[in-house]
Amino acid sequence: MCGIVGYIGNEEKKEILLDGLQELEYRGYDSAGIAIIENEKLNYFKAIGKLQNLRDKTKDYQSSGFGVSIGHTRWATHGKPTELNAHPHLGKFSFVVHNGIIENYQELKTQLQEEGVHFLSQTDTETIVHLFEYYYSQNSDSFNSFSKTIDRLHGAYATLLISESSPDTIFFAKNGSPMLIGFDGDDIYFASSDTPIIGRATEVYYLEDGEYGYAKNGEVKLFDKNGEKSFSTKPLATDKAMAQKDGYRFFMEKEIYEQSLVMSDTMIGRVLEDRIDFEELDSELFEGVTNIKICACGTSYHSALTGSYLLERVAKIPCQVEIASEFRYKEPLLRDDTLFITISQSGETADTLEALKMAKREGLKSLSICNVDNSSIVRESDRAILTRAGIEKGVASTKAFATQTMVLWMLTLYIAKLQKTISQDRLDIELDAMRHTPKALLVTDKLHSKLTRLSKRYLHGHGFFFIGRDLFFPLALEGALKLKEISYLHAEGYPSGEMKHGPIALADSELFTIALMPKSLHYEKIKSNVEELSARDATILAISPEPFELADDFVQTIYDTHPMLEFFEMMVVTQLLALEVSVRLGNDVDMPRNLAKSVTVE
Ligand code: M6R
Repeated sequence: MCGIVGYIGNEEKKEILLDGLQELEYRGYDSAGIAIIENEKLNYFKAIGKLQNLRDKTKDYQSSGFGVSIGHTRWATHGKPTELNAHPHLGKFSFVVHNGIIENYQELKTQLQEEGVHFLSQTDTETIVHLFEYYYSQNSDSFNSFSKTIDRLHGAYATLLISESSPDTIFFAKNGSPMLIGFDGDDIYFASSDTPIIGRATEVYYLEDGEYGYAKNGEVKLFDKNGEKSFSTKPLATDKAMAQKDGYRFFMEKEIYEQSLVMSDTMIGRVLEDRIDFEELDSELFEGVTNIKICACGTSYHSALTGSYLLERVAKIPCQVEIASEFRYKEPLLRDDTLFITISQSGETADTLEALKMAKREGLKSLSICNVDNSSIVRESDRAILTRAGIEKGVASTKAFATQTMVLWMLTLYIAKLQKTISQDRLDIELDAMRHTPKALLVTDKLHSKLTRLSKRYLHGHGFFFIGRDLFFPLALEGALKLKEISYLHAEGYPSGEMKHGPIALADSELFTIALMPKSLHYEKIKSNVEELSARDATILAISPEPFELADDFVQTIYDTHPMLEFFEMMVVTQLLALEVSVRLGNDVDMPRNLAKSVTVE
């Protein structure tokens, strides 16, 4: 996730860009940059780290009078967060900003290099500006060169380009990443979301995938694959707080809905035709490794547990999972043939960070799976895989859990291939299922309204048991954690086969059982466990693709062939249930009592 802002007009452009980027900083803050053309001359500034660094760098620069301008705040995907990798990227006479991932950039880059083009950065984005200038060198027509460039791009992009070849124009294109155009008289704005332009523009047009064009002389020309098209604007919202949530009631709700999209970001460039590739990893990290230990807290611990099932089952590598706060003081015996993995959304969790330092002192190799680049845990680790979930604001973690779990699934296949513990046929089946994950994460109106209706029956009682087996046991733990965090109701996650060893004593009609009953993994076994609870009058909410006649309430899921697709689909159901119960109880969904987003104390 990155953020983009653009502006054409007579106002002070630097301020418009910096204020706009401030609103988008939640989308990434590895680096930021702006480029402005005024009086037919290009100026640009870039700074790594938070936007304040760019503000400091530009404090003596002024840009009033007519001009065109673009700005960007970055969340690194290709290449480290350095100034060279910061946007805008420059060619000889043009600048580009981009949000998304150009999947075929390597192929384009090689072609351009063969033409003698010199690249400065490690980013996929830089190919756009060089490709534009390459075509311009052939035809001297800016818009034609831009259209040809867009035609060559595969993947997701929202992009703005300015060039001394057309100093009064901003070229734009969108496919798979968000972008809108704001209007106020002759002034034209571009942004990744509403908030940067609220209070400035009055009308807005939300670009559709496949649209591109240019803005000039107070007018926008819009095209798609069928040629030029007309469009109509609508009034821009005036409530900034609402706009930050993209119209959702809560950040948690927005983040649940975002999961499908961010999951694609997590996979782009990593899920290839016949294998998994991590540019962050190489075989050297796994040399001599015969064992994996994963350490994490809270939700990240639950994704770690899920990963341990996958790593042992599919990659055939022994894997133990530890809660970081326990690990630190148990005087663990560590062997140097163990790869030490930490998982953390924030990368700042004190217990996880200290566990990592302990493992490093013992000479273990380390890998972190994290959502925040440059965080303490990332910096401390030998290698890091970023989950690319984008900033998560809701204290109750949702999309971070989904993307952590996906990274662990991908890592499992990566290691399995490396250690030759998987056949190509099985790998192909896993990759195919993986590609379906964004679909399994989509929230339909039907599903959401069903859970809104159901939630009113689950506001009391003496407790919730989320139960599941195998991979669905960690999901049960996570479902229970979500509910208790934001509803303040008591909930436990339990392996369903373990209920009869004690907890079933609690069963009565006021004990709510949320039963995760996937079709593709031990269905008959789970069914028996749920029947035992039903026989003791427990109230059952069954989540399954298979109708279950003893259920008091039933949410039917769609996927039934691959456990991970069932996993992700059921995960969304448990998240929505927690959300709607919390809303009905009138709790603060995004900032529940007693909790903090980042736990930097032990
Ligand atoms: O940032 P981390 O993933 O290291 O945080 C770990 C836990 O504090 C975190 O997952 C917590 O449990 C969340 N509030 C769960 O929703």
